[in-house]
Amino acid sequence: MTTISEAITRDHREIKDYYNEVVGSSDVAHQTSYGNLLVWELARHSVGEELILYPAFEQYMGEKGKEMADKDREQHHEVKILLKKFQALTPRDEDYRETLDQLMGPLREHMDEEERDDLPAIEEALKSNLEDQNGSAAPDPSSLSSTVVDSQTLARRFALTKKFVPTRSHPSAGEHPLFESAMGLLAAPIDHLMDLMRKFPDQPSVGERAGQTSERADSPIEATKETARKGVERTQSMGQSAMEGAKDTAEAGRKKTRQAADTAGDKARDVSARARDTARRGSESVKRAVSSSASSGAS
Ligand SMILES: [Fe+2]
Ligand SMILES: [Fe+2]
Repeated sequence: MTTISEAITRDHREIKDYYNEVVGSSDVAHQTSYGNLLVWELARHSVGEELILYPAFEQYMGEKGKEMADKDREQHHEVKILLKKFQALTPRDEDYRETLDQLMGPLREHMDEEERDDLPAIEEALKSNLEDQNGSAAPDPSSLSSTVVDSQTLARRFALTKKFVPTRSHPSAGEHPLFESAMGLLAAPIDHLMDLMRKFPDQPSVGERAGQTSERADSPIEATKETARKGVERTQSMGQSAMEGAKDTAEAGRKKTRQAADTAGDKARDVSARARDTARRGSESVKRAVSSSASSGAS
């Protein structure tokens, strides 16, 4: 089961990977795909943290948690301004790369801080809160709403919250799209997002558990991931064909070697037979000469 630290850190790695894809390529289509992927993933990640992680800081870590949450929200605000600027650009724009680097600077610092300071602190707080709760003889029923959750539950809520902010309407949300752009999502007031989230089931539907969510396939993120997956499959299939080709070549080589060995064996057998024949004839002629000399001596 994934912990909240693992879920957040995995997102951070993905965001950094998308950045590397953009700056490591000169292909405009590739840069556009991964640039879009970075924008959407960052938007969903930020909203997920603001709805699930930062409230958990405040709930389980007292004054220190409030300070951490405030600092993180402030850093998100700075990143969102740069993200808005970056999202309006294309790889053909002169300041595309510069703006992306301007965005990644404070974002990297923020992600590093979360991983180094905030996540270990919340893991520790969740653990000790849980121990306190389990140690109390009779839990107060009136405090059910503030029941302590474990790190894995927080991770599951974080994942579901990210899933509820697709580019298109969730099936149960009716006809109206939720957010047509990452900026629409980021600009939405947080209490409005919380209201929206409450309209979604806490558990994934049967179809979602089986990985059949239609909005997943429709979103640019999933579409790009799908393209990447197909690319990997193609590469694997090319590798398989190359391997089959190599096997055929090796088999043909082995066949040729066997044929050459057979031919050499046949030749050697011929030579040996001829030698035996010559020796036999030589021996017969010696015998004949001895016999003739013996008979002429006797006479
Ligand atoms: Fe964050
Ligand atoms: Fe983060």
